[in-house]
Amino acid sequence: MASFSSLTRPVSETSLFVLKLSDQSSNSHSFSKNLSFSRSGFCCFQSQLVKIRLKPSVSIKNSYQTESSTKTESTIVSEVPILSCSEAIERLRMSRETYKSKEQYLAMYSSVFGGITMDSSAMVIPMDDHMVHRGHGVFDTAAIMDGYLYELDQHLDRFIRSATMAKIKLPFDRESIRRILIQTVSASECRKGSLRYWLSTGPGDFQLSPSGCHQPALYAIVIENQSPPDYSGIKVVTSSISIKPPQFAVMKSVNYLPNALSKMEAEENGAYAAIWLDFDGFIAEGPNMNVAFVTKEKELLMPEFDKILSGCTAKRVLVLAESLVKEGMLQGIRVEKVTVEEGKIADEMMLIGSGVLVRPVVQWDEQIIGDGKEGPVSQALLNLILEDMKSGPASVRVPVPY
Ligand SMILES: Cc1ncc(COP(=O)(O)O)c(C=O)c1O
Repeated sequence: MASFSSLTRPVSETSLFVLKLSDQSSNSHSFSKNLSFSRSGFCCFQSQLVKIRLKPSVSIKNSYQTESSTKTESTIVSEVPILSCSEAIERLRMSRETYKSKEQYLAMYSSVFGGITMDSSAMVIPMDDHMVHRGHGVFDTAAIMDGYLYELDQHLDRFIRSATMAKIKLPFDRESIRRILIQTVSASECRKGSLRYWLSTGPGDFQLSPSGCHQPALYAIVIENQSPPDYSGIKVVTSSISIKPPQFAVMKSVNYLPNALSKMEAEENGAYAAIWLDFDGFIAEGPNMNVAFVTKEKELLMPEFDKILSGCTAKRVLVLAESLVKEGMLQGIRVEKVTVEEGKIADEMMLIGSGVLVRPVVQWDEQIIGDGKEGPVSQALLNLILEDMKSGPASVRVPVPY
């Protein structure tokens, strides 16, 4: 390890050596051979990053999927350069260029700098923001479809409810937050994608209490939709990760560690999502979606929302499904406690949320759902939601002035 006294050298005189631990034994020779770093800090930074990408020790399906891949995460850093502000910004820009994200960030609003930036390297939040180091923040989303924000007001209501439950004061009134969000989408010129936004107790210090926070913060980001939608049937498993207690499950806080672990558990088992049961064993929800069933009696059955997140899409599906009752495709709609047994013998099962819209489930654990194919009601509900996003009433479609 380098002595920290060496860190006082300017970046132009400092080399940054980063080596993957797993590469060390197998590739130690090639590493020293390749160690022809230029004395320029930026070139060093760029070359070591490129080397890591070109010399993976295992082929990684998804960076967290294989046991061996986790071993490649460790790095040895022997010298750390001291950077000026412009050098740090330049490195942020370059580090973004070295990985190809499936997502493009088109614009970000931050109340900390009081404006919108289109430069993705500036889309950062302060380290001493309590949302970063204490998880004291809430968030929400809205889809952007053909230049309209879908269910913005419904999501905004939940956002403000979550903030109230998390005791986060609003930095602006509801109308101003709404205006800022619409302006951010407008500046991004995005017509198809998603808007994500956060309310935080804000930057200030590293204490637990937010009493030292300067003022609450609002952040928003516009993400362009690049991957084609996939509505095919998927498999789910029962989550072994504990669901959040009701007090926390009903608010959309940034504490999504159980949700992330639950999603990883699903991926590790070749499934799309893991389904949570509540503390009494009833079906609850997925890590970022609600669930619903079509019973043998052709009723749409959805778990009640008292201990889970009140999904804006699920609530909208309940309204749109009325037309299927009128048509006779459904015999009724019920929102109540659902047992695992009821769920597993259902004719259809589906995941519902702003990310998945309506996604048919064809297998839950070892149980094939219905005939193992995407069901007609799931398909009809998906079509209704897609139609609603494209030509629904003004109450669910907010136009973005470009
Ligand atoms: C835990 C959880 N449940 C349900 C949902 C679905 O909510 P919505 O339809 O509003 O996206 C989400 C959405 O992110 C979620 O995180």
